[in-house]
Amino acid sequence: MATAFVPSTTLRLRPYSTLRCLSFYPKNLTKPYPVFPPLIRRSPISPRRFFSSVISGALHSGERTKSELAEKQKGQMGSKVGEFRKKLKIVDVKGGPDEGLDRVGLMIVVAGWVRTLRAQSSVTFIEVNDGSCLSNMQCVMTSDAEGYDQVKSGLITTGASIWIQGNVVPSQGSKQKVELKVNKIVLVGKSDPSYPIQKKRVSREFLRTKAHLRPRTNTFGAVARVRNALAYATHKFFQENGFIWISSPIITASDCEGAGEQFCVTTLIPSSREAVESPVDAIPKTKDGLIDWSQVYTFGPTFRAENSNTSRHLAEFWMIEPELAFADLKDDMACATAYLQYVTVAERDFVQLSYTDAIELLIKAKKKFEFLFSLEIFDNFSGCMVQRGFSLLVKWGCDLQSEHERYLTEEAFGGCPVIVSDYPKEIKAFYMRQNDDGRTVAAMDMLVPRIGELIGGSQREERLEYLEGRLDELKLNRDTYWWYLDLRHYGSVPHAGFGLGFERLVQFATGVENIRDAIPFPRTPGSAEF
Ligand code: 4AD
Ligand code: MG
Repeated sequence: MATAFVPSTTLRLRPYSTLRCLSFYPKNLTKPYPVFPPLIRRSPISPRRFFSSVISGALHSGERTKSELAEKQKGQMGSKVGEFRKKLKIVDVKGGPDEGLDRVGLMIVVAGWVRTLRAQSSVTFIEVNDGSCLSNMQCVMTSDAEGYDQVKSGLITTGASIWIQGNVVPSQGSKQKVELKVNKIVLVGKSDPSYPIQKKRVSREFLRTKAHLRPRTNTFGAVARVRNALAYATHKFFQENGFIWISSPIITASDCEGAGEQFCVTTLIPSSREAVESPVDAIPKTKDGLIDWSQVYTFGPTFRAENSNTSRHLAEFWMIEPELAFADLKDDMACATAYLQYVTVAERDFVQLSYTDAIELLIKAKKKFEFLFSLEIFDNFSGCMVQRGFSLLVKWGCDLQSEHERYLTEEAFGGCPVIVSDYPKEIKAFYMRQNDDGRTVAAMDMLVPRIGELIGGSQREERLEYLEGRLDELKLNRDTYWWYLDLRHYGSVPHAGFGLGFERLVQFATGVENIRDAIPFPRTPGSAEF
């Protein structure tokens, strides 16, 4: 049994690890500790106390232990790498049951980004966020704090990164239990007045154009943390249930589910923007007038090149794909249900019904659907198509659209996740196990409110002759699938699996409406900004 948690691209995104810089000082430290600037100063305390990478790096050069100095004296080159320690973050201070009161009296350092700054006659309030939680650290500062001149001269503005040292004290305000009484403030990186994320509300559309900055907002910071929690819970669930995580390939030469369109990646056309105005003549040609492909250079994987510009589709997305050996469709559905209940802590029973029953419900529904199914009318006698048209009517054999899926889960079953199974074989992939009726396959889709399809899976065809028969019917070349057929030659077993779109899960868990807001840097048809 194995589970693959795969990115659909090799362009791996860096994890959201930039938002952690909070160091922890001992209670008995009375003098402000010099860290920025100057970086090289002797410290009264052990460097092991400092957990911020920047800070500990600086300290390391400022304070050498006796053994380190002895090593140096021996004439050895280089210095030791410091001990890696977890940094204390705002969530560690304020996230406990008493919301930080247990830390009162401690001197700590907060490093983060200024959310707001409010200067009153005798006191200045700076809200700092380090990305570890929704809550800011309210830093309260009077003019005697070291570095106050930077506040006075207006250098510390929204968006700036700062380093603040102070004592945790009970808060005077009602919004938080504790705040930081500032001893020292250092501006780490100033923020230009053009900083686009000011206090006023900005639209999600606008923030998509600032994807590199949007994690600094409450909403996107929260979505990033939920996404992280879901990924963690995913691994935990499968690890605890006897699965092994494997890295399956992304580049493939075979068309698995009829979604094998290719992205065209070429340097023949200088850039997508320039291409709009590029003359066709600019494309290099051979002397016979054909495109000279010898100059083509491709890089990176392609994935789901379908041209879907919807709030549920990305060109690059993450999918969780468990595969279960010695398992049938029922086991598959049970696993999908247990998994979703585990990661979302949902306890409601899930509804299960066949595709045929779902179609009946849709036909009877008193709802006007909008999707137009293409309709082909054939002449009974000659078998030729005589008319092509469109129809709003749902009928057996049609692929369910998002509006139909949402009707089933949201209206027909009052918000319960619904698993539809046993779809017509014509609308499903070749590898799905044929049912005894000869018309349907052991496929299942899990539908959830607001999203529609969250999971697609099936029992796989483990019988060699059926699989070969289906390949032939679909005019797929058996030779291309030799290794897949081989698995039926050597110890074939009933098996099943499913794929869950991770961004759709993030949408489901957070309520984010557009899938482009469920991934840090969305890739959609025609857009790979950032
Ligand atoms: O139903 P799909 O196409 O199934 C498969 O790809 C199977 N190979 C999975 C398997 O059996 N191992 O895709 C699975 C899920 C969908 O239910 C949907 O949640 C998500 O992947 N998905 C997308 N998410 C974002 N953008 C897209 N373009 C997506 N296409 C599918
Ligand atoms: Mg599907």
